[in-house]
Amino acid sequence: MKNLPTLFLGIFFALAFSWTGLILSSHLFLGDLKSTTATLDEQGNPVEGDPLYPLKLSGIAREGKQVYIDQGCVYCHSQQIRTKGYGADFERGWGERQTVARDYIYQERVMLGTMRTGPDLANVGTRLSSVQWHMQHLYEPQITSPGSIMPPYSYLFEVREIGSRPSPNAVSIPFDSPYAPPEGWEVVPTPRAEALVAYLLSLRVDYELPEMKFSEDD
Ligand code: HEC
Repeated sequence: MKNLPTLFLGIFFALAFSWTGLILSSHLFLGDLKSTTATLDEQGNPVEGDPLYPLKLSGIAREGKQVYIDQGCVYCHSQQIRTKGYGADFERGWGERQTVARDYIYQERVMLGTMRTGPDLANVGTRLSSVQWHMQHLYEPQITSPGSIMPPYSYLFEVREIGSRPSPNAVSIPFDSPYAPPEGWEVVPTPRAEALVAYLLSLRVDYELPEMKFSEDD
């Protein structure tokens, strides 16, 4: 084992090289990205008084992100709009611009995703902004999207007998739908479903950044 020092040195350099390439260089390029305004002033600073983007998640939407993680939505849905000409993201109406590193700076766990069994959700809050739509869809995707292969998340809802009056947040399901509860019963979202929908509605890429404007040529 007279080559042991060489072996260790080799292992050390292999690790040091990949760490520098993957971690250090990304950190140097992207580590100091901050929220900013859509355009910059002449000095290259954010314009005073203009709104700063990206936004941080509100309390309930943060809880909803945890539900998104728990339920494994990321196994079928990505949250990254690809650059024009690279895939059909724009043609499918998934966003008005590609997403860039700055869009993700407030996300401790980034749900980029690698599978697209379902549509990309980076901008779903702008596309589908109705709470009722999301509630119906999560309870049973067939109600809003007949033939969908998305699994139902009905266990995030409670089917219960209507008390003295219907709950204000009950999911409205047409009476003639095969998924409607029996007469006198209602489908009520649990706090987890409420949080998940708040999270989905918060997914919006509806702002421009200095490095990425909405595409104009479509
Ligand atoms: C097995 C794959 C699969 C899983 C897991 C899955 N979905 Fe889906 N999802 C789909 C498919 C396919 C569609 C398109 C058909 C439809 O609208 O139901 C879809 C559609 C959607 C849409 C509508 C998007 C649009 O632009 O029309 C939303 C919102 C959504 N899913 C949210 C979720 C959430 C939240 C979860 C986790 C609780 C989840 N999905 C889990 C496959 C999946």
